[in-house]
Amino acid sequence: MNIAARARVVLDDTVDRAIVETLLTCSPHLHVTEYLDLRQHEQPNGEAGDALIVACSSFTPAVGHYVGASRRLHPERPVVMICTAEANGYVSEAIESGVDDIITLPPDRDPRVALAISGQLVFTVEKAIARRRGEPEMAGQRLGRMICVLGLKGGSGKTLTACNLAASLADAGNTVALVDLDLQFGDVGLTLGLSPERSLYDLVRSGGSLDVEKLEDFLTVHPSGIRALLAPARPDQAGVVTSDFLKDVYPLLRGMHDFVIVDTPPSFTPEVIGAVDASTEVCVVAMLDSPSLKNSKLGLETLELMDYSGRVRIVLNRADSSVGISPDDVVAIIGRAPDVLVPSDRNITRSVNQGEPIALQHPRSEAARSFKSLAGLYIADQATADHGHAAKRRRLFRRGR
Ligand SMILES: Nc1ncnc2c1ncn2[C@@H]1O[C@H](COP(=O)(O)OP(=O)(O)OP(=O)(O)O)[C@@H](O)[C@H]1O
Ligand SMILES: [Mg+2]
Repeated sequence: MNIAARARVVLDDTVDRAIVETLLTCSPHLHVTEYLDLRQHEQPNGEAGDALIVACSSFTPAVGHYVGASRRLHPERPVVMICTAEANGYVSEAIESGVDDIITLPPDRDPRVALAISGQLVFTVEKAIARRRGEPEMAGQRLGRMICVLGLKGGSGKTLTACNLAASLADAGNTVALVDLDLQFGDVGLTLGLSPERSLYDLVRSGGSLDVEKLEDFLTVHPSGIRALLAPARPDQAGVVTSDFLKDVYPLLRGMHDFVIVDTPPSFTPEVIGAVDASTEVCVVAMLDSPSLKNSKLGLETLELMDYSGRVRIVLNRADSSVGISPDDVVAIIGRAPDVLVPSDRNITRSVNQGEPIALQHPRSEAARSFKSLAGLYIADQATADHGHAAKRRRLFRRGR
């Protein structure tokens, strides 16, 4: 690496900062952008750096918590842990929490010892960065699930579902990207209270080749950890965002996140068809009225005509409204029972107006519980897919021997 790797460093209060500073400042290949305190969570602002270095005496629940939250904030940035205690018994726990590599400092507090192992530390950081950057190109890599939220009637609750599903998945510890494919009138930004400084339009207009690092700059981070790729700010900007362009965006996002949620406009535009093709699952949002149910049936039939091979789940929004349609009528019209029912709730309208998903604002409400159970279904699907992926890798490995 010719340019110095830029690292944020976080310290717990058991380590000797002077030793850590000696260790980190004696190589021209590593530049520390700032020192942070482990007791304060990393903020989304400022320069994330190429790597996060966590210096602590050993891996504790507090360290695990910090690493997990930082990984949700910057999923592709590697984490290297410097421990002052022998790595006995905590290695697998640390790796599971999101640590990429661990380096232990000898108990000797002599700065000369730190100096001697600084080369090893820089090498470990460079290795972790190189591994992360190479990941999307790695054959057989784990790609996150991509869920396309569809609803062929305006106002059926697609954006509500996409935002609250994303929030519930993030709340359960997953890394989540949310793409607003309602290119003309998208309101994911509004629903999440995000300012649309960088949108899909700006990403297309930025020119040059598309890679993980670049994409990273155009994601707007919500305090829950959701990273949103927002719709263009004005309807006239929508035309520059093509299906071809989006086709390259999805695998990168899937390489960077556990889940990619796509909110869509109420029709099968070419971009929506492209997103459905690229997705692993579709979530159809219907409302308890005949036009919405009829359109949902048409949507399901269209997916069949497209030979869509992913799983299709159905959310019935405002499911408790008494409008003369019974659950049996719903099954008769759309041909199957909904997977999740979301009630009407005045707090939903309030939460949308306040730019905070109800799943986080009123976590005990029935609506929040509905979105949580929807997230649970997708988490279970992901676990099944990961199991299949691991089995496939084992088979390939056996074959290669
Ligand atoms: N279950 C509900 N309870 C109360 N209000 C709701 C509910 N579902 C939706 N709404 C209200 O309806 C509005 C429209 O919902 P939403 O924006 O999610 O629909 P949409 O399908 O994305 O619409 P569009 O097709 O225009 O993109 C929300 O802003 C919210 O105020
Ligand atoms: Mg919408």
